[in-house]
Amino acid sequence: MNSTAHTAHLTTAELNTALSLLRAGELVGIPTETVYGLAADASQPAAVAKIFAAKGRPADHPVIVHIAGAEQLAAWAQNIPDEAYLLAEHFWPGPLTLILERQPHVSDSVTGGQNTVGLRAPAHPITQQLLQHFGGGLAAPSANQFGHVSPTIAAHVRSEFSQDVLQLVLDGGACDVGVESTIVSLIGETPKLLRPGGVSREAIEAVLGHDLEHHTNQHSAKQRVSGLLDSHYAPRTTLITGNTEQLQAEIQQQQQLGKKVVLITQNINTNLKLEQYLMPSSPEAYAHQIYATLRQLDLQGYDTLFLASPPTSAAWLAIHDRLGRAAHQRY
Ligand code: TXA
Ligand code: MG
Repeated sequence: MNSTAHTAHLTTAELNTALSLLRAGELVGIPTETVYGLAADASQPAAVAKIFAAKGRPADHPVIVHIAGAEQLAAWAQNIPDEAYLLAEHFWPGPLTLILERQPHVSDSVTGGQNTVGLRAPAHPITQQLLQHFGGGLAAPSANQFGHVSPTIAAHVRSEFSQDVLQLVLDGGACDVGVESTIVSLIGETPKLLRPGGVSREAIEAVLGHDLEHHTNQHSAKQRVSGLLDSHYAPRTTLITGNTEQLQAEIQQQQQLGKKVVLITQNINTNLKLEQYLMPSSPEAYAHQIYATLRQLDLQGYDTLFLASPPTSAAWLAIHDRLGRAAHQRY
């Protein structure tokens, strides 16, 4: 069996299959409310190494350890500040990852050799059920090849890995949130936002009672050149983002050369003579659909995907972050 049937809960047989694979050091595809994860027992370095091999991921990239809830924080982290418990109380289970000082036993394969560990209690009922029976932690990055678009349905996980690498994917349906968790580091004097995501920056600041420093250093606003830069969350087809006016000239140029192009937009423009793909107007619905849309359009033989940038207000922060990294070129 490749995948379980899509249900809200695992049968006892499915649960036992998943548990025995994990305990035997094998990988299992798991649904979370953000994106699907490629999970291994975080206490078995050889099992975690299989994640890196399957994804083609550089060994110094740390992976998040998924736990059932805040009661397991102290099993993985030490010198835990009160703010960690405060945030966990408000946002767990849910799309928030906390970076904390690791317990000495936490393997370098999980932390990328750093002194810190990323911890998250996911809300998806299937993975909650799995974690509660498993008892330990599940190391799990997004279940895609390194740099590719994250998967938000079980079939997308299946298409990323061969059966001998990944025997089982637990099908939990389409991920609610659709973009990855927010990452907050509680190392140092003040909490830092390392990656915007499923929990808004404003919601976290409201709970903490002060501002978060924003540190998303790896990806500056530099213009990208196709194929040259560290692309992430990226479709295989060239993706170009900007406002419609900026994109128009390049769209026309490509059309004159006989290229097949599409415009992903929130407002169909009837003056433009080209295929348009309509995205929703709310940030929640947009996030829920964006990765599946990129994957779907990637399979349709376009030469270029053009995307009209969504609004820039606070609620769109995580979406802009991902689109910025997915794009091969930005205006
Ligand atoms: O929503 C999510 O976070 C999904 C689901 C599966 O939980 N996971 C996910 O994992 O997005 P991944 O590996 O694709 O991204 C995890 C990010 C990476 O950018 C990694 O550098 C960062 O978390 N991270 C993990 N542990 C860290 C640590 N100790 N210090 C700093 N960053 C860390
Ligand atoms: Mg990822």
